[in-house]
Amino acid sequence: MGTVKLSPSILNADFAGLGETFRMFERHPSVGYIHFDVMDGDFVPNISFGAPVVKSLAGKTKLPFDVHLMVSDPIRYIEGYVTDNTEFIVAHAESTVHLDRTLRHIKSFGIKCGAALNPATPPEALDYVFDIVDQVLVMSVNPGFGGQGFITSSIEKLRELSGIREERGLGFKLAIDGGVDLSNINEVISAGADIVVVGSAITLAYDPDAELCAYDELLGGKSL
Ligand code: DX5
Ligand code: ZN
Repeated sequence: MGTVKLSPSILNADFAGLGETFRMFERHPSVGYIHFDVMDGDFVPNISFGAPVVKSLAGKTKLPFDVHLMVSDPIRYIEGYVTDNTEFIVAHAESTVHLDRTLRHIKSFGIKCGAALNPATPPEALDYVFDIVDQVLVMSVNPGFGGQGFITSSIEKLRELSGIREERGLGFKLAIDGGVDLSNINEVISAGADIVVVGSAITLAYDPDAELCAYDELLGGKSL
């Protein structure tokens, strides 16, 4: 399990205290990225934050940013999320008729590209882009809100994608997002996930720091 990393989502965090939240993430070896949920009120029925917020947070931590765009026609906004911290920009397969173009556009900035799949979208939607994606993000909730229940069919989808990755000898990261907590994280990792997005289970925990220690232990690291 050495290579599995958490990508904590700040969607349900206290936005006034993000600096402290970042310091806390940095203390935990299980944390590999920070996950930013960008929502436009069109692709999903909710609005969160956009490029100015992500840009202003770049440089405030050494952790790489994992930017999840839940917006219609994301190609219009990619450039706004290009920062020194940005490792991944992830676009939804359902959000554009030009997925290939969008992914290549992300890569043109030297940023790794990801493709996200809503719960009802099959892995086949990515058949002709598997060779260019750096991350495949399986949504285990319908995107739009934190704190929803885990959709169990996502486990089968992870297994399928993990099989495709192996069969085709590809190196994309397999990410899972939505409703993950300590009760189901082992299952998603066994199914092939190597980036695990966890939102409210950490940020809304009674003691987020202690919660992260439990993830550290599970993923094989030790708290500093
Ligand atoms: C859902 C977002 C997720 C989610 C994660 O639209 O993409 O990143 O907020 O939060 P939890 O873990 O609370 O489902
Ligand atoms: Zn997300």
